[in-house]
Amino acid sequence: MSATYTLDTATSRATPTPAPMKRLTVPQIAGRKGGEPIVMLTAYTARMAQLLDPHCDLLLVGDSLGQVIYGLDTTVRVTLDMMCAHGAAVVRGSYHAVVIVDLPFGSYEESPEVAFRSAARVMAETGAAGVKLEGGVAMAPTVAFLAQRGVPVIGHVGLTPQAVNVLGGYGARGKSDAEFAKIVGDAKAIADAGAFALVVEGVVEPLARAITAAVGCPTIGIGASPACDGQVLVVDDMLGMFERTPRFVRRFDDLAVRIDSAAAAYAAAVRERSFPGVDQLYGAPA
Ligand code: KIV
Repeated sequence: MSATYTLDTATSRATPTPAPMKRLTVPQIAGRKGGEPIVMLTAYTARMAQLLDPHCDLLLVGDSLGQVIYGLDTTVRVTLDMMCAHGAAVVRGSYHAVVIVDLPFGSYEESPEVAFRSAARVMAETGAAGVKLEGGVAMAPTVAFLAQRGVPVIGHVGLTPQAVNVLGGYGARGKSDAEFAKIVGDAKAIADAGAFALVVEGVVEPLARAITAAVGCPTIGIGASPACDGQVLVVDDMLGMFERTPRFVRRFDDLAVRIDSAAAAYAAAVRERSFPGVDQLYGAPA
């Protein structure tokens, strides 16, 4: 279902027509284990959130915005200020999906208390329903601390991009028996600590399957397995905004090519003075 929007400039709320579905809740998502697959995409702006919202169960304001929006080389330099600004925009642009905001590197690892302060700030400033954080066994006490204090948490195991400097790159994880077993242990620890869902990223397919069978919460795969309880992609990857398509991405459009053509057509129209045309002018042309 697609909607049109009227912007209320006093509140910055865009009012959709037709009236939207009621927003999903965290318990509804948690209850989807083994059920209808969970649809999740990243979103970073209000307009993109409006377009994705009717089709998604979850919108993730991922710290991938570091690369996608800000042109950074990794997510390590993403700040809480960035996450709050984009999180608020995505909440304003959505009515149906549960909005989750990534806690960026450095905002939660130090202690459960630091994590709580960061999560509380994100939720208060954005209106998001919860947060996502990366890590395994070491982060389980933090997940429990947050979950017991009213912060819904999605865990993130396998390839954890914030740890790129430790991992040494973005290759798939779980190829050795030892790493396979370690990541299953990470997933169980985070799920047992109270995460309501778990992103499983960049792992060999049998590992994603094993994690999905081992944990009680829904798993959401990216570069993982169709056996996961849901799937997530970075929206710009799925729209074909970048030249490079990682193996785990399917392009559902070729937007970069279409934008390039539109920009070229605009440039040509300006240069040959065919734009603006009569239709775009106020009053009679000179
Ligand atoms: O930051 C992000 O976009 C993510 C997804 C890739 C899961 O964490």
